[in-house]
Amino acid sequence: MLNTGSTSADSTLVANQGPPLWLLAELTYRCPLQCPYCSNPLEFANHKDELTTAQWIDVFTQARALGAAQLGFSGGEPLVRDDLVELIEAARELGFYTNLITSGMGLTEQKVNAFKQAGLDHIQISFQASDAEINNMLAGSRKAFDQKLAMARAVKAAGYPMVLNFVTHRHNIDEIEKIIELCLALEADFVELATCQYYGWAHLNRAGLLPTKAQLDHAEAVTQRYRLKLAAENHPCKLILVTPDYYEERPKGCMNGWGNIFLSITPDGTALPCHSARQLPVTFPNVTAHSLSHIWYDSFGFNRFRGYEWMSEPCRSCDEKEKDFGGCRCQAYMLTGDATQADPVCSKSPHHDKILAARAEADLPQPPIEALTFRNERNSRIICKS
Ligand code: FES
Repeated sequence: MLNTGSTSADSTLVANQGPPLWLLAELTYRCPLQCPYCSNPLEFANHKDELTTAQWIDVFTQARALGAAQLGFSGGEPLVRDDLVELIEAARELGFYTNLITSGMGLTEQKVNAFKQAGLDHIQISFQASDAEINNMLAGSRKAFDQKLAMARAVKAAGYPMVLNFVTHRHNIDEIEKIIELCLALEADFVELATCQYYGWAHLNRAGLLPTKAQLDHAEAVTQRYRLKLAAENHPCKLILVTPDYYEERPKGCMNGWGNIFLSITPDGTALPCHSARQLPVTFPNVTAHSLSHIWYDSFGFNRFRGYEWMSEPCRSCDEKEKDFGGCRCQAYMLTGDATQADPVCSKSPHHDKILAARAEADLPQPPIEALTFRNERNSRIICKS
């Protein structure tokens, strides 16, 4: 168990620490969909409280004063908050570049236009698959696919840059060509083909989601073929393929370093250095009790993995530690039970066998999509009780 007490920060760390640049406002854990790869905490049913409109605006004001420039509205599904226009307006007045990250469920043409008028810069709509059947099964809604198509068109018509996000996994990654074709037909400007990252519900369902290496290689080859074709045609669409780090030999520099540029606020006001940190045995501060300045610069939680002192071997003496910071703290904790360990993705980690085992598991037949544990209140309550 890590130290969970409150302690004043090392003065050298504070002196060297820049401001948060990226603020993620997780407005709510409520969501009409039930994606089995959601990154929300498994026990979200235990966290029902939400900050009020005034409390969120106070958070934005403090974050902007510290130097934050980008603000993402996320969830859950942020559209279930009926104060979204007000929050966008406030963020815009403060000078944030704002981004709405949504499933598109609950979106209407009127809302798309109202958000535009309020000053929203950017809407990212996520899809589950390129065909209605798999998309709707994964989303847990028979109407999801048609609604997403209609809203993607409405976003484009309103003059936003069109950013589509497709979460890929072993059940849909072989359809990558169809996915890209759909994005081109929708006139997307940016397409993020994001293979699941294994946090929250995706970690719970990892065996049923992780693609094989052969599937990934195929997806990379198809994406590259399309990139070359689009470039040759001077086509404006950009394809971004995000692959799972489970097939890497070195870890990612998660969040660009712990408490370095990224600040996430959960629906109840808990401040986190990444969207997944709530699961760690570390006490994190809440914006209802502390100023953001204290939280960012002085709180125990935000200083816990800054710098290099906390590292154990092989990270401590590794000449790559300034590049990858030992990898992801949440992944180290999920896979080893100890957040001070090297991320097992690293081939130098004594726990790298866990990643190799996951790769081997991906090569075995896995149960169908229906067998995944879907992210919903009922399953969350069962998990909370167990
Ligand atoms: Fe929490 Fe990587 S997701 S440190």
